[in-house]
Amino acid sequence: ATNEELYRPNLHFTPKSGWMNDPNGMFFYKGLYHLYFQYYPNDNVWGPMHWGHATSKDMITWKEEKPGLYPDEKGYIFSGSAVVDVNNTSGFGNKENPPIVAMFTYHDAAKAKTGAIDFQSQAIAYSLDKGMTWTKYKNNPVIKNPNIKDFRDPKMTWDAIHNQWIMVLAADVETQIYRSSNLIDWELASGFGKNLGVHGAPWECPDFFPMKVEGSTETKWVLLQSINPGGPNGGSATQYFVGDFDGKTFSIGDSFLQDLNQFGALWVDHGKDNYAGVTWANVPNSDGRKLFMGWMSNWQYADKVPTENWRGSTTIPRELKLINTDGHYRIVSLPVKELDKYISKTIKKEPLTIDKTTVIVDKSKVDMARFDIRFTMNNLKDDNYDFILSNKENNAVYFGINKKEKFFYINRKNASQKTFSNEFAKTISKAPITSNFNSIEVRVVIDKTSIEVFYDNGKTVMTEIFFPDKPMESFSVVKADSDFELKNITINQLKIK
Ligand code: FRU
Repeated sequence: ATNEELYRPNLHFTPKSGWMNDPNGMFFYKGLYHLYFQYYPNDNVWGPMHWGHATSKDMITWKEEKPGLYPDEKGYIFSGSAVVDVNNTSGFGNKENPPIVAMFTYHDAAKAKTGAIDFQSQAIAYSLDKGMTWTKYKNNPVIKNPNIKDFRDPKMTWDAIHNQWIMVLAADVETQIYRSSNLIDWELASGFGKNLGVHGAPWECPDFFPMKVEGSTETKWVLLQSINPGGPNGGSATQYFVGDFDGKTFSIGDSFLQDLNQFGALWVDHGKDNYAGVTWANVPNSDGRKLFMGWMSNWQYADKVPTENWRGSTTIPRELKLINTDGHYRIVSLPVKELDKYISKTIKKEPLTIDKTTVIVDKSKVDMARFDIRFTMNNLKDDNYDFILSNKENNAVYFGINKKEKFFYINRKNASQKTFSNEFAKTISKAPITSNFNSIEVRVVIDKTSIEVFYDNGKTVMTEIFFPDKPMESFSVVKADSDFELKNITINQLKIK
């Protein structure tokens, strides 16, 4: 069915009603992708946290299910993860019907009010019906609070290299790494990051996993580490580290240390609206992809955005890859290939020479509330290259490249609704240009109230939300010098679900 709500996206998950933040417990099993999420069903602002639940065959079309976990006398159900315990190491099921095991943080809100600092602990639950219903473990918590105020967001992974379960936890200003053989008894192995990357606020929602470096036989370990505030354009964002793991300790090498010295931090996404993203567990080896999804909002204004009976959505799911450019490791990300199945029409355009502001596509050809456009920008000089998504109400989202001052940007200052928060459109969001190029590939996914821009095959990514008065109607490129050329323009209409 067409989605008539002005602000509800078409191809991103949103709860039917209520509040959502972080994606939680994502795993794949028997043909279904599961998404749980920080959920408060009774209001469209944050409250006593549940794990909402949704399932999908392709990570794009979601079916909302009954919540997976409800708060109880031990606390709210904060963020966490889930794994398929294939060999029944936990003993909660059997090999024929392996248990799904989730770990989450109990946030004891009543205790927090007393001024105590040990109100967050880690607990587990298991499901014997493929994630549809859950039983909380009787001896929770499995990791007690060691007197650390911010102590949360356990992310478990099967570490096939060292034959163990591992779990990373945000513990104040560092990431703690734990190991286990049965998902119940956990041993603290090490801490990472106290003096590395961006700090200034507690870390949240880590994820830690091995990745093959593209085009080589090398394996490196990647730590995703969200932080709020401290993001490159204010508020929430996710930084990452690339290094080695010996089964207990994670360490970064000289080249990554150099990168941190140069950039402060490396970011999964430079836009303001991609937070707390983590990867799916149990994606089959035969698939081999690292699949990632974030929360498409920012704690600066998440509870004020002008959506109605619901708030919060996910980003488009993305495939992460690890590349090595001249000895420097980088995470790149692009929308998952499943999005291509939603292409209902493709328009290709000849090279366009841009010596005046030119409409590339408008609503007479494509429904501007859901499309995916790809093009190559050629003959770039030290100049500005700007694109505009706009409507007749004069609402406009600008994005593009300022080659002179060396940044990519998104500007939503003129996209209409913004007074709900001072932080929403205070500045233009920027991502640094760190290499020399005079040609670049660009991919943009638009879904009514969001723009996700992928430069250079996902080497720089920017995700932002916006709230126009009416749907956008045209997509244009702004006048530049006459050498500037747009090539291989492919406009894909994404179909109505
Ligand atoms: C991140 C976060 C987590 C916490 C959850 C609470 O957005 O603050 O650290 O578990 O949200 O909803």
